[in-house]
Order: sequence, then C-alpha cells, then structure tokens
Amino acid sequence: MLAPSLLSADFGNLEREFEWFNRSAAQWLHIDVMDGVFVPNISFGFPVLKHVARLCRKPLDVHLMIVEPQKFIPEVKDLGAHVMNVHYEACTHLHRVVGQIHDAGMKAGVTLNPATPVSVLQDIIEDVDLVLLMSVNPGFGGQKFIQHTYRKVEQLRELTDRSGSHALIEVDGGVDLTNFRKLRSLGADVLVAGSAVFGAEDPEGVCSLMSV
Ligand code: DX5
Ligand code: ZN
Repeated sequence: MLAPSLLSADFGNLEREFEWFNRSAAQWLHIDVMDGVFVPNISFGFPVLKHVARLCRKPLDVHLMIVEPQKFIPEVKDLGAHVMNVHYEACTHLHRVVGQIHDAGMKAGVTLNPATPVSVLQDIIEDVDLVLLMSVNPGFGGQKFIQHTYRKVEQLRELTDRSGSHALIEVDGGVDLTNFRKLRSLGADVLVAGSAVFGAEDPEGVCSLMSV
C-alpha cells in the first residue's frame, strides 16, 4: 500500500492536488503533524487539517511528531482518522495511550525513530495495529533514506510473525522509485512517500507504480 505524505503537497492549490489524488491508486493519505519541540519543525495544525479531511476521500494516516500526543486524541478522532500514530519516544505510558486511541475508535500505530531498536516493541506488539519505522530523522521531507531501515523491516517482520501480531509495517522517509520494491519484498505493508509522489512530473503515475 502507498500513503503519499501531505507535507510535500502544494498548499497553494490543495483543491487541485486532491482532484488527482482522490482518483489515484494511492490507498491512504499520510499526515505529518509537528510541534517544533519533539521535532525541529512545525507543519500544520487541526484547523488546516479539517479542510484537508473534507477534501480527501481516502483513509487518513495521522503521524503525530509531537510531545504528549495523547492530549490530541479527540482532535485526531474528529478528523475521522483511520490510524493515529504516536512516537514511542514521546510516550512514557505507551500502553495506556494505545488503549486510549482504541477507545476513541481508531487504529493505533507506534512510530520508532531511526535510533530506536525494534526490540523495544516486544511487550506492546500484540496491542498495536501498525508500526511506523522512520527511515529518516523526522521533521522534514526530502531527506535521504537510511539504509539500516532494511534490517529493521526484517527484524520487525520476524517479531510480528513470532508473536502472531497483526500489526502492519509502515516505512516513512526517503521512500522512492529506487527502494520501494525492496522494502515491500522485505515485508513492509505500507510505504509513505512525500517528495517522490508530489515532486514527480506525473504524480498519479508514480502512485500507480508504488501502490502495490
Ligand atoms: C518526515 C515525515 C515524512 C515526510 C516524508 O518527518 O514524517 O512523512 O513527509 O517525506 P519524503 O518522502 O520526502 O522523505
Ligand atoms: Zn510521517
């Protein structure tokens, strides 16, 4: 599956972006919320995202790069999000937060920064619906893919198989036409792509290629 990242969309022409996006083969829309504290950048907040949610006809995959993400569960739910992703590094009481996301009726995703090992998920893997592996340091689009992520996808696939977890494996950052096939073959279920899609001459064509 492919989840193009809104961060790279043309905010001056959102209506036009969603005309092609809604008819494209992409399965989800990935939405990056940043607070300038957890990551060194600020993106967009909920008033803007309400407009985006009205335009988008695909499930929303919301990635919160913020401290205390549990405070915003009602706002994410109000958007009609399908998945709410919180960072492992931002949640002291991750098990509780995952339960709160489920209670709000959403799928719960846990995100790992590049330097956080897959092994920290051992005691939560059966409770989550998705694990998002960052393949760049979060905060900006257009960065270079960190090669070590391939090994992490393999390790996570081993962990989900061993534990019987149904968690989807998602990869975010620097994913493009040169590496998406390898990521899929190693076991990634969902690929996030920002600049590779929105920066392309034929974004709809790139979505068709990458939406496998
Ligand atoms: C990075 C974000 C990504 C970003 C990916 O902090 O989490 O979702 O939009 O952009 P690309 O695909 O350009 O690396
Ligand atoms: Zn993201």
